Amino acid sequence: MMEKNAIERKIRELLAKMTLEEKAGQLQQCGPSLVGAFEVSFEELLDMMFDGRISKEEFDRLMSGAKQDFHEDDIRAGRIGSFNGIGDAATANRLQKIAVEETRLGIPLIYGYDVIHGFRTVTPIPLAESCAWEPGLWERTGRLAAEEATAAGVHMTFAPMVDVAKDARWGRVSEGAGEDVLLNGDYGAAKVRGFQGDDLTREDAMAACVKHFAAYGACEAGRDYNRVDMSLQKLWDEYLPSYKACIEAGARAVMPAFNDINGVPCSANEWLLRDVLRKDWGFDGMTVSDANAIAECVNHGIAADKRDAARQCLRAGVDMDMTSNSYIEHVQELVESGELEESVLDEAVADILRVKFEMDLFEHPYRTSEEREADAMLTQEARALAREAAVKSMVLLKNEDAPSGLPEGNSGNKKILPLAPDARLGIFGRLAADRGQMTGAWAVGANPDDCLSILDACRERGISYRYLDGADNPEGLSTKKRILEIAEESDVFLAVIGEDKEESGEAASRASITLKDSDIQLVKDLLEVGKAQGKPVVAVLFNGRPLAMPWLAESADAILEAWHPGVEAGPAILDVLFGDANPSGKLTTTFPYASGQCPMYYAHMNTGRPGGKSKFTSKYLDTPLEPVYPFGFGLSYTTFAYENLSVEKTEDGFHVSVTVKNTGSRAGEEIVQCYVQDVAGSRVRPVKELKGYKKIPLAPGEERRVEFELPSEKLGFYSREGTYVVEPGEFRIYVGGNSRDVLEAGVIL
Ligand code: BGC
Repeated sequence: MMEKNAIERKIRELLAKMTLEEKAGQLQQCGPSLVGAFEVSFEELLDMMFDGRISKEEFDRLMSGAKQDFHEDDIRAGRIGSFNGIGDAATANRLQKIAVEETRLGIPLIYGYDVIHGFRTVTPIPLAESCAWEPGLWERTGRLAAEEATAAGVHMTFAPMVDVAKDARWGRVSEGAGEDVLLNGDYGAAKVRGFQGDDLTREDAMAACVKHFAAYGACEAGRDYNRVDMSLQKLWDEYLPSYKACIEAGARAVMPAFNDINGVPCSANEWLLRDVLRKDWGFDGMTVSDANAIAECVNHGIAADKRDAARQCLRAGVDMDMTSNSYIEHVQELVESGELEESVLDEAVADILRVKFEMDLFEHPYRTSEEREADAMLTQEARALAREAAVKSMVLLKNEDAPSGLPEGNSGNKKILPLAPDARLGIFGRLAADRGQMTGAWAVGANPDDCLSILDACRERGISYRYLDGADNPEGLSTKKRILEIAEESDVFLAVIGEDKEESGEAASRASITLKDSDIQLVKDLLEVGKAQGKPVVAVLFNGRPLAMPWLAESADAILEAWHPGVEAGPAILDVLFGDANPSGKLTTTFPYASGQCPMYYAHMNTGRPGGKSKFTSKYLDTPLEPVYPFGFGLSYTTFAYENLSVEKTEDGFHVSVTVKNTGSRAGEEIVQCYVQDVAGSRVRPVKELKGYKKIPLAPGEERRVEFELPSEKLGFYSREGTYVVEPGEFRIYVGGNSRDVLEAGVIL
């Protein structure tokens, strides 16, 4: 990479040559617009479909005639610095040529894209992948995503999302690493390393734009885009560290969140974007607004109009305007009228140019070719990695003893799972066959035909199965009759149920996070027949968030949480069901009993009246206090025992060690978790906080001493001003295979 000083000198030289319009142009990110087939705006057209003025068919017909406008004249005039949503090499290179060869200063474009969990080779949704608790894996899938996306012309991904999400109603829990701040930070840092590699000038390096800064996951009531109001201490302790971890890992871009924090929208939040991000954390990359977020400051009620919004957001530190046109329309006149200092504009332009120089886009504006693109996608190695990631993401939630008569699987422990290689499956539920659903939310570069469903995988593997999808029923038989029919030819029932991909992700909050009535009815019917005939019912769940499903947890014979696993969904699920792989995933998000418990998370504070048997304690009348599945929970085909927890004081903190033993009959991996509680602080502290985790392989009968270092810098918390303090006193250390079932030791710091 060019030397830092050289870059700064080049930036100054360029700035000196730029007109105000060209400067504003660098801040402008636009997407291709759709034109030609309709006379109203695209947004209006969408509204027309949603409010019934036109049918979905009519909408599709109009869309099919639409052309894309790439605003080529604006590129030529130097009025565009970046595009969002261009994911093919030919278009990327064609537009880049205009920017480089036909503009006055030849400044290259930078292309951003939502590469959230894979580009063409879609890997599991982030929430799923976080359940692997494996930074090395997160980095490898990040690298794969970058190799494919950069081949398609992408320079920057709007990822990772490291919004700590404790409220399962929020649809975007699917896009991050769950409810814990340490895991989100580790996950994000690994992704940054994977996306960017160690040399930004390489053609396969993809700059990471960390989002959504900050605390978007704490939106009130789990409703997307909603306000966030919280104490600064909570913000510092529980939300900001995950973004900071990504900045420390070298992320070159940051996206301010849609929400406000304590009354100031993040896009207009100078404290957040300048004081915290730049001054405290030393960030010198670029910031990119969220889509249309600058203009939305008017809706927030903090700006009088778009012009005012442009002034406030630029001053607050938002460098690039994603698609709201506020900067390009108003910044020049704001500077000319003296309402905005040119130095503020120059700083924003410099941040963007810095990243373009760091990526060497001036010298190598065309970082891909159509040939490279054609070779890069969906290789055998990529599919193998997607399958590995999917297997490691799955969480075995329940596995009862096998009924007599069930062919024995290879674990030798007489449980329902894993299934015997020749077990015959009775498969039920639309999601077992629906390839397009396997990607989950935010898979923009995906092609549904690349995905392998459970049925595809059964065919590929030669599994004997019968399938009932509910739709194909020419004789009009009742579901139960058809189940009976299928039962004759199957040993075990698979109920494939859960959420469609549209039911999580952006703008997909749910007030009730229960299973669908139709899914519950299906499982009831299966259980009725299954009980009578000795066929266990295994629920395979596809979902992008925790579900409140106490009935299923109680009734199903086995439950595999598969999340939305990506292109290799079917093969990975069969790997786990048939025991080629031993499940090792652990939940990174709590599964509550009822939607009304949200937000529910393990690292909560205590009250003066912790929930207990007596009436006047902190609890609900109609719901147990405990979750159905706690944070960190997940079963294996083997079993693990924990003993001899020891905590020693070191010069500066604690050394923790514990013996973990594989007490079952097959090899497995265990995710050992270490939690801490500060017993009496000057401020109320969480009942448990994750401070370390290790994933270890153990052969049957093998035991290992697992160690954790807890330096005092990991044991403190933040003051209101953002100063980190470590207080001496008593700590409790907990170690176990989930956040509930732990060994405990007390120690004084
Ligand atoms: C989302 C961002 C995304 C952006 C660009 C927004 O609606 O909030 O996460 O990166 O769109 O597509």
